[in-house]
Amino acid sequence: MTQNTTSPKLNLSVNETLLAAFDGPIPRHVAIIMDGNGRWATSRGMNRLRGHHEGANAVRRTVESCRYLGVEVLTIYAFSSQNWQRPVDEVSGLMTLFDLYIKKERKLLMDNNVAIRIIGDRTRLSDKLQAAIVQLEEATAPGAKMVLQVAVSYGGREEILGATRALCARVEAGEFKASDVDEALFSSHLYTAGQPDPDLVIRTSGEFRISNFLLWQLAYAEIYVTDVLWPDFDEAHLLEAFGSFGRRERRFGLTGAQVKA
Ligand code: FPP
Repeated sequence: MTQNTTSPKLNLSVNETLLAAFDGPIPRHVAIIMDGNGRWATSRGMNRLRGHHEGANAVRRTVESCRYLGVEVLTIYAFSSQNWQRPVDEVSGLMTLFDLYIKKERKLLMDNNVAIRIIGDRTRLSDKLQAAIVQLEEATAPGAKMVLQVAVSYGGREEILGATRALCARVEAGEFKASDVDEALFSSHLYTAGQPDPDLVIRTSGEFRISNFLLWQLAYAEIYVTDVLWPDFDEAHLLEAFGSFGRRERRFGLTGAQVKA
């Protein structure tokens, strides 16, 4: 957990008064399954894509709030390996939205020292989008105070299989023995290499599922589910999740008495 390391130099548009009043522990790494964009839109008689666009505004609010509160890593689930099977219009609309996000949010990310990283199988993205991602990752990396990992074309099982194949190839090449493979070496072959595991995973829209998200990394994450649909998720909802996190006893397999001792 980290302390609230608010900097007066931040250039944010969130409700700073509300955020500043929060005095609970801040998780180092927050992961979010952003669900409910479609329902948010259809319940208003709108196209599902409109829900995704409103979802992008909730992404901005959440990135800003996490940066303000001193979160070190924020990982958001934007598009799963399975989402490629959605209707063509929705997939292409989401790809256009990611492209737009990269262009629109560049200044905000750079002004606030947020480094972006895209995790997932980026070879399935268009060449143009891949190039824009590399450019933004390189531009935002220097002097980062927070890392924003955006999972795009991401699947937890696919990630674990990829790491396993890479490790097997290195064993076959004689670099090390299979018995040398431990948790640290395995983790270093995942997309999230070098980042701490999430402390808290938030899922919006009331669904109690992990949906192939960070299957390895969520081993000891605290789970928080809210009925709020992602486009409505704001600073107050984030603080509710952090408040709940602060009231948990994290035991990592130990007994309560051991943890207290
Ligand atoms: C799940 O809701 C959401 C998605 C598959 C897309 C998430 C995308 C965004 C929040 C858009 C912006 C992201 C970035 C990084 C710019 P759903 O469509 O499955 O909702 P439903 O369950 O109500 O149908």
